[in-house]
Amino acid sequence: MSLSSQVKQVHDTVPFDVEIGIICGSGLGGLATEIKNKIEIEYTNIKGFPQSQVVGHANKLIFGDLGGKKVVAMQGRFHFYEGWQAKDCVKGVELMAALGVKTIVVTNAAGGLDKSFKVGDLMLIEDHISLVGMVGNNPLMGHNDDSVGPRFPSVSSVYDAELGALFRKVHDAKKAEVGHGHELRKGTYIGLSGPNYESRAEIEFCRTVGASAVGMSTVMEVVAAAHAGLKVIGLSLITNACLGTHADEYNLPEPNHAEVVAETKKVEKFVQSVVADFIAQVDVSARAAAPMSKRFTREQLPATIAAEVEAAAATADACGKRRFCAGKGDGKKGFCVGELFGASFVSGLIGGFIGAALFASVACRRHGAGSQ
Ligand code: HPA
Repeated sequence: MSLSSQVKQVHDTVPFDVEIGIICGSGLGGLATEIKNKIEIEYTNIKGFPQSQVVGHANKLIFGDLGGKKVVAMQGRFHFYEGWQAKDCVKGVELMAALGVKTIVVTNAAGGLDKSFKVGDLMLIEDHISLVGMVGNNPLMGHNDDSVGPRFPSVSSVYDAELGALFRKVHDAKKAEVGHGHELRKGTYIGLSGPNYESRAEIEFCRTVGASAVGMSTVMEVVAAAHAGLKVIGLSLITNACLGTHADEYNLPEPNHAEVVAETKKVEKFVQSVVADFIAQVDVSARAAAPMSKRFTREQLPATIAAEVEAAAATADACGKRRFCAGKGDGKKGFCVGELFGASFVSGLIGGFIGAALFASVACRRHGAGSQ
């Protein structure tokens, strides 16, 4: 299912355009409850969307008003540990960008690597280490759609410093207003595949490379956001202390998912209200539209879809074996049964000759050896 068709599905259901996207992390699905005048679309109803299976995650896109802005929230994200391909994990971000979103708020639950962090603290993500990407699981691998973003995008400033400063201001004001609230930390998030929590040695490794919090999400989504020209505000809710090799870390409880969800529940309301205030104050109009979103405006979408259909037909015609061709030549992965058959016939013929020659040579040698 192409991105343009997914956008059309949304346009058919949602009569307004969205400016800001939100990805709700484990236990933070309540962020979406703040949204007013909601229109919900279940992931099962978006063709080509994976289904998140994690406890604490619903599976829907929620469109509506938050802080006076039109937003879309993903209640349920796609994790690499569920078995999805890296490129599937970023389907939601790609759709948000295609819908014209310019800024996304990405939240997650994370383990605190920095020993000064306390459970319940919020960390503003200043940068990330995609360990999962560095070992070859990058959502941008494979064919690059140049109309979405460049082959070699920069991710150096995707965590936008201005957005971070605004978030800090809003957080501190809310903390003063309600008279309590947790520390707003800052640091580097390291993204691993999961699903197991880290070994002690892995925790020390993450600390050594400079990470402050560790989790199993976010980095792929942020890479896809950078590719599509979006700006990101990233927030980690510290739900547990990580267990490394420091003497005092042998008495601490082992991390578990129930604890992660329970800890997020305790601070969920505060985080929700800070995010809502932040969205109210952020000036999205000052930002350039994501480069790719142009093709998918309500006015342009029918022409875009018509052009795609025409391009697919032209590709099939050019091949001359229309019924058997799938996407070949349009830059996407594809195959042509006719060519495949031709290729296997020729390679089979060559293989047959080589096999016969080898057999003959072995048979001759055997024969020679036996006659001595
Ligand atoms: N490690 C990885 N992911 C997590 C953790 C953790 O300690 N806590 C919440 N998500």
